[in-house]
Amino acid sequence: MTQDELKTLVGQAALQYVTAGSIVGVGTGSTVDKFIDALAASGLRIAGAVSSSVRSTERMKALGIQVLEASEVESLPVYIDGADEIDQQGHMVKGGGAALTREKIVADLAERFVCIADESKLVPVLGQFPLPVEVIPMAAAQIARRFAAMGATATLRAGVVTDNSCHILDVRGLQISDPQAFEADVNQWPGVVTVGVFARNKASVCLLGTATGVKTLSF
Ligand code: 5RP
Repeated sequence: MTQDELKTLVGQAALQYVTAGSIVGVGTGSTVDKFIDALAASGLRIAGAVSSSVRSTERMKALGIQVLEASEVESLPVYIDGADEIDQQGHMVKGGGAALTREKIVADLAERFVCIADESKLVPVLGQFPLPVEVIPMAAAQIARRFAAMGATATLRAGVVTDNSCHILDVRGLQISDPQAFEADVNQWPGVVTVGVFARNKASVCLLGTATGVKTLSF
């Protein structure tokens, strides 16, 4: 199966976590696009979705799915999103699509985080995928120096302005062996909006697309 077919498979499989009449948290990315398409085609009637990006909002609205503001809900039964990397404990790196801040906000509203990914995303230790960090523009250079002091290299993602009018640094050369401590540390650096390590808001379940079908990992 191609990577695209694996994404379709897990996007479809995620429907089992969606209850009719509920409000669903919806992430961002090519795998989530497959979920949105499957949801729209399923005929399952939900009360609405809380979206993590303009991109997903536009896709859902075009398919007739009602989109609610995060401020309109107190909690969500489930949040469905992809990942750039996931480890065996359910910690993730996210933000390849620059939507990490809103993704973390919506994930924080949810009782369960269902991660949908193809099997190439499962890693022993986070850090091979360049870590996205959303930053306030005036702090970017200082934050890059802090990463350099850790032996890593932070590069400004050219031409990208996030939905929150901020910038993205992509950080290479990290080995994130303690994701919780790393997330807590980097998140409090001045000018960091969100670090793309999801340890506090880690996955509850991962639906992994493999050549032999969907593998379910529970954390
Ligand atoms: C966007 C994300 C995505 O979930 C992540 O980049 C995975 O994307 P894709 O499903 O296209 O591989 O974090 O900010």
